[in-house]
Amino acid sequence: MSTTRPRVLLIGCGNIAGRFDMARPADAWPVTQAGAFRRHGGYELAACIDPDEQARHAFAAYWDIPRHGSSLEALGVMPGEFDVIGLCSPTALHHTHLAAVLPLKPRVIFCEKPLTHGLQESSRWEQACQAHGVTLVVNYTRQWDPSVTRLVDEVRSGRWGVVRSAVGYYNKGVLNNGGHLVDLLLRLLGPLEVIAAATPVHDHWDNDPTVSGLLRSKDGHVPVCLAPAHAKDYALFELELVCELGVIRMRNGGMQWDTRHAEPSPHFSGYRALAGVASADGDYLQAMTLAVTEIHQHLNQGTAIRSAGPHALAIQAICEQLLAAATHAVPSTN
Ligand SMILES: NC(=O)c1ccc[n+]([C@@H]2O[C@H](COP(=O)([O-])OP(=O)(O)OC[C@H]3O[C@@H](n4cnc5c(N)ncnc54)[C@H](O)[C@@H]3O)[C@@H](O)[C@H]2O)c1
Repeated sequence: MSTTRPRVLLIGCGNIAGRFDMARPADAWPVTQAGAFRRHGGYELAACIDPDEQARHAFAAYWDIPRHGSSLEALGVMPGEFDVIGLCSPTALHHTHLAAVLPLKPRVIFCEKPLTHGLQESSRWEQACQAHGVTLVVNYTRQWDPSVTRLVDEVRSGRWGVVRSAVGYYNKGVLNNGGHLVDLLLRLLGPLEVIAAATPVHDHWDNDPTVSGLLRSKDGHVPVCLAPAHAKDYALFELELVCELGVIRMRNGGMQWDTRHAEPSPHFSGYRALAGVASADGDYLQAMTLAVTEIHQHLNQGTAIRSAGPHALAIQAICEQLLAAATHAVPSTN
């Protein structure tokens, strides 16, 4: 087993595994696992599996992956062959694949979010990874977005003054995309409590409705509102933070950031108001590359890694509370 050029096995050859990047310019920042592992240069994309023959062949040819098969059994893999396993199969299969890959003794499992569909199940597999000495990383991608890291540092250092409230806009499921929002909120505000949730709407997944929600930071000071959009309209993933000294808005999933600072009103003496919007591009597109860079450092130097199992469980616990509260609320008419 090499520690300088870790060998990667990808399970699933779909969009997040690599297909998104197959439709993007070769010099664009990669937004997939295969794209990021390849761009990093320090990994060997050694094998991939997917039962969809056509998709797998196209995938393996594009990414120049020498070994591929319809399943782990078909590939005839041996324990210790792979340092990193990228788990990119549909969420409903994650638990099956976690069971199948732990005996292969990888050093890292880079699992797409959510870990599984249920908190109890996720918790079981997080513990199984720990018991096997495998580092579990769950891909809440914005963990590695430098713009988000800067915002977290600024907010936590008081550069924006007191945080008064937060509003997250999202669609495509409380667990699937709501989980990304909860990830951001936990980093910005610390532990959260669910106060209420309502209006579950199945806008994309049969088993994961998008819900509206009201939460607060555990210290009780910061109210958070989750405002749903409908996945059939357009993708929406945005976050607005209302602070003592101004308002920050992450737009288009982190592609752009808008800030407005409070200043004396030019119209009403004695009042303060928000100045015009200053917009800047975000660094979201670097996130996947930075994730695999951190995994590489972890493998070679044993350094800490973000978005490990316990953080994923904390996210899923909040999502599950929101879902339970919304399900017990008055049903929506969709
Ligand atoms: N981190 C993120 O922001 C992000 C973004 C998109 C998707 N995801 C997650 O990634 C996972 C995959 O999503 P996707 O959008 O790439 O889906 P997808 O449908 O594009 O790809 C899934 C692939 O898995 C393959 N597959 C099915 N059964 C399999 C099996 N038994 N063994 C191996 N492969 C199998 C399918 O043929 C398909 O090619 C999901 O868990 C999803 O929630 C995460």
